[in-house]
Amino acid sequence: MQEIKLKKPTKEHRKEAVSYIEELQPNLAGTSSLEMYLTKYELWLKKLKKEENEKTVPKNRVVASTYFVMIDKKIIGMLNIRHDLNEYLFNEGGHMGYSIRPSFRRKGYATKTLQLGLEKCKKIGLENVLITCLRENKASRRVILKNGGVLENEIIGSDGNVMQRYWIKSN
Ligand SMILES: CC(C)(COP(=O)(O)OP(=O)(O)OC[C@H]1O[C@@H](n2cnc3c(N)ncnc32)[C@H](O)[C@@H]1OP(=O)(O)O)[C@@H](O)C(=O)NCCC(=O)NCCS
Repeated sequence: MQEIKLKKPTKEHRKEAVSYIEELQPNLAGTSSLEMYLTKYELWLKKLKKEENEKTVPKNRVVASTYFVMIDKKIIGMLNIRHDLNEYLFNEGGHMGYSIRPSFRRKGYATKTLQLGLEKCKKIGLENVLITCLRENKASRRVILKNGGVLENEIIGSDGNVMQRYWIKSN
């Protein structure tokens, strides 16, 4: 496994970002809606900037930070950290969402990404971090368990699927 870094998206990442989404299709979880902005990438960057500041975040959203998971100049994953929980996030979404490029899967990168995400959570003052995953998503469940996740419960999500809710201490 190579060293990974979390980087805030910038204009320079546009081409790599498009190729990331192309490889991820059709399973588009953990992308901060990037797929909807491929032809208007700079608008996506503006959206992320607004969401990161409590003064500008839209009223129905919580403050959130999005990162590309990078090996040198290659995007191999994405991570989104919600700084707070609204009702939906408390029940279903959790504090973090992530994805890894299919050609980089099963190498430990998501496990490391979640670990780096937990360090970010600690820095923003989140001690107890909620991570959720569909019960059928074995890979995500392993990633959560390997980072110390403790299952609180299973619920039926708004799409009718069984969702597991795990808590992880960030320190
Ligand atoms: C879930 C996801 C992020 C895992 O990424 P990854 O980099 O392959 O994960 P890791 O390499 O860190 O693997 C962690 C564990 O999951 C296991 N795993 C990975 N893929 C698996 C699969 N398809 N089936 C079963 N187990 C799997 C690994 O074997 C490893 O467990 P182990 O150490 O006990 O062997 C990736 O599959 C993905 O991007 N999925 C689509 C988006 C998504 O579901 N995001 C999570 C919800 S927001």
